[in-house]
Amino acid sequence: MHSMPESVVILTGAGISAESGISTFRAADGLWEQHRIEDVATPEGFFRDPRLVHHFYNTRRRLLLSDPIRPNPAHTALARLEQQFGGEFLLVTQNIDNLHERAGSRNVVHMHGEMLKMRCQISERVFDIRGDISIEQRCRCCGEAGNLRPHVVWFGEMPLQMPRIIGALERCDLFIAIGTSGQVYPAAGFHDIARRHGAETMEINLEDTGSGFDYHICGKAGDTVPRFVDQLLEADRNKASSSRGK
Ligand code: OAD
Repeated sequence: MHSMPESVVILTGAGISAESGISTFRAADGLWEQHRIEDVATPEGFFRDPRLVHHFYNTRRRLLLSDPIRPNPAHTALARLEQQFGGEFLLVTQNIDNLHERAGSRNVVHMHGEMLKMRCQISERVFDIRGDISIEQRCRCCGEAGNLRPHVVWFGEMPLQMPRIIGALERCDLFIAIGTSGQVYPAAGFHDIARRHGAETMEINLEDTGSGFDYHICGKAGDTVPRFVDQLLEADRNKASSSRGK
């Protein structure tokens, strides 16, 4: 990096949760090899067969809440960065798990929604959920059965909190994408927005995804992210102490 950033935006994808035991989407054994996107991750799929869609998310929610699933050192390092970095910081995740929050991150933008929330399709009210959702379940607001859906963003729907994300991308001077393949827009275009507004861009991934970042760190997120966060925080502390000395 050319200079110490004052404003950082981080985008995470499924790769950051892989070492916690949650499957990514596009690996050879990933979720989209075992399920058709059209069936389980579109509004049309839900209209056609809501039981199948509920089963897909209920299974993933049970796994998320099961014992072996816990945050890994990459999640913990990003929580530390949020707490200790002196500049502006925004963590945006495409993940619908809660591992960033469980690691201690306070301010997480879940642009693709959250697995532990459900929504009434009539009132748009959002409720916490830890058990299963079913088509027989009556909604707490309208009292009707069949109106509840997972509070997740499906293909063809608008991701959440986009104005806030775009504003932060336009202001940041460092954008980092961690563990995402860059296949799904609008998230796949975030580094372009940041770069057009003067930011440096970095990718941390098992491999170079070929998406045109300025810098790449290749390796497992659980190893690479804590090391990178330590370097960034040390540089941030040095900058603060040298500006106090002036
Ligand atoms: P993908 O499955 O497309 O990509 C995961 C990325 O993580 C790949 O580039 C891997 O190389 C990388 N990776 C895997 N293990 C890693 C590790 N231990 N350390 C570092 N990197 C690792 O997942 P996403 O890019 O998150 O959207 O997918 C984006 C969106 O596509 C998801 O949010 C979901 C999906 O369809 C919706 O469902 C709307």
